[in-house]
Amino acid sequence: MLFEDLVLQGHAFSAPFVIAGIWFFGLVGPFFAWLTLTWAEKAARAEIAAQQETQRRARQLEAASQTSRQVTAILDVDELLGQVVKLIRDTFGYYHVAFFLVDAASHEIVLRAGIGQAEPAYQTHGLRLKIGGEGITGRVAWTGQPILCNDVSQDPNYYPDDRVPDTRSELAVPLRLGDAVVGVFDVQSHRLNAFHQDDVLVLQILADQVAIALENARLFRETRQQHAQVVKLSQDLERKVEERTKELDDAREELAHKATQLQQLLAITVRVQEEERGRIARDLHDGSNQLITGTLFELQAAQQSLLDRREHAALEKLETVKALLRKIDAENHRIILGLRPPILDAQGLAPALKWQANNFQQQCRIACSVEVCGQPIRLAPEIEIVVYRIVQESLNNISAHAHAQHVQILADFKRAEFLIAIEDDGVGFDRARVRADAPGQMGLIGMRERAQSIGGQMQVESVPGRGTRITLRVPLA
Ligand SMILES: Nc1ncnc2c1ncn2[C@@H]1O[C@H](COP(=O)(O)OP(=O)(O)O)[C@@H](O)[C@H]1O
Ligand SMILES: [Mg+2]
Repeated sequence: MLFEDLVLQGHAFSAPFVIAGIWFFGLVGPFFAWLTLTWAEKAARAEIAAQQETQRRARQLEAASQTSRQVTAILDVDELLGQVVKLIRDTFGYYHVAFFLVDAASHEIVLRAGIGQAEPAYQTHGLRLKIGGEGITGRVAWTGQPILCNDVSQDPNYYPDDRVPDTRSELAVPLRLGDAVVGVFDVQSHRLNAFHQDDVLVLQILADQVAIALENARLFRETRQQHAQVVKLSQDLERKVEERTKELDDAREELAHKATQLQQLLAITVRVQEEERGRIARDLHDGSNQLITGTLFELQAAQQSLLDRREHAALEKLETVKALLRKIDAENHRIILGLRPPILDAQGLAPALKWQANNFQQQCRIACSVEVCGQPIRLAPEIEIVVYRIVQESLNNISAHAHAQHVQILADFKRAEFLIAIEDDGVGFDRARVRADAPGQMGLIGMRERAQSIGGQMQVESVPGRGTRITLRVPLA
């Protein structure tokens, strides 16, 4: 039955009551409808917000897992942090994202990678903050606990940075390895109340992964350094072995060379001795012996004159004998001087050198001067004779090879060292050629050997056309 039928049939309902009912429902109905709609809209909005939040969270988690996948393989710290800041900035749209690393030596954190909203690539700027003293990040490095600040203007720890003037909220979490804080991960937003407690969780997960990746990178660097060290050590070792082997080969060659030289020297010494003996024998034969024979002859003649009682003739013969004996004495003197000049033993080096230079000048017609410096003291006899022989051999070489005009001998008696230099202005010679090509020439080698036998050092300087200088230094300890 319809409502109209009830009215028409005069049912229990009276007309005013019906009209009031219609009026009432006409008003309340729309109100309820409006309420229902508003509620539905709110519910829909809440649903959308929840969905957005879920999506945001999903994006964050996706970013976290993507980061962990990407960064663990990167072994260069700057590249690693650079990629992470860029990824976080792009995914979350933060105003600024940065990594600080702890510098334990200076007790500071150092900005190692930072990227703003509009920046194409991350930058470092070299910003340093005192651990515990400066900024929210400095505090995080000190306490090892995250700090979420949704209004930086209210935080006395906030460190205003000109490069990020619009920061309103900041969230910083520590990079931890075991108990140690190795750095700080910092994100900033230009909105107030931008961060939620969930963000702390997500960023901390990211920070933990980055910390592990950093440790991987450090271990990799360490291993690579150790490997490089091992390679370098083994190369050094190889090089040293090579060097030693070469030194040994050189020493062996030098020894063999020395042995040959010594053999040659010995042969030459023997020859020189024989020649010297021959010369002395000739000298004695030609000089003293003939004179002695003459003396004997004159003595016999004097004897005969006495027997014949011819005293005057005997006296004359004896005068001749005296003259002959004087000649023998002079001749012997000459021979002895040639063997070893008595002036060396009697008066020492300086007078002996002057005497030697004088003789050389007279015999060879080459000007020869001697300059003596310092206090000319007596040196050990073996040193004096070696010096004398070296000068003698040098003068022999000058007369034989140099075609010199002048010779200068400098003898310097220093406190700790005796130095002698024999310099000529002759034709000079090419030392390399002489050493290599003329093994038979043992004068210079013999001089060097003599010098070494008294702990001295001999140096030969010569330039073809520009003379020669032989220098001998003997330490006087
Ligand atoms: N003062 C010098 N002036 C020019 N050449 C020299 C001089 N001293 C040495 N020499 C050169 O060095 C070579 C080697 O000298 P040395 O060893 O004494 O042998 P030797 O005198 O028997 O030739 C000589 O042959 C000569 O060519
Ligand atoms: Mg010679």
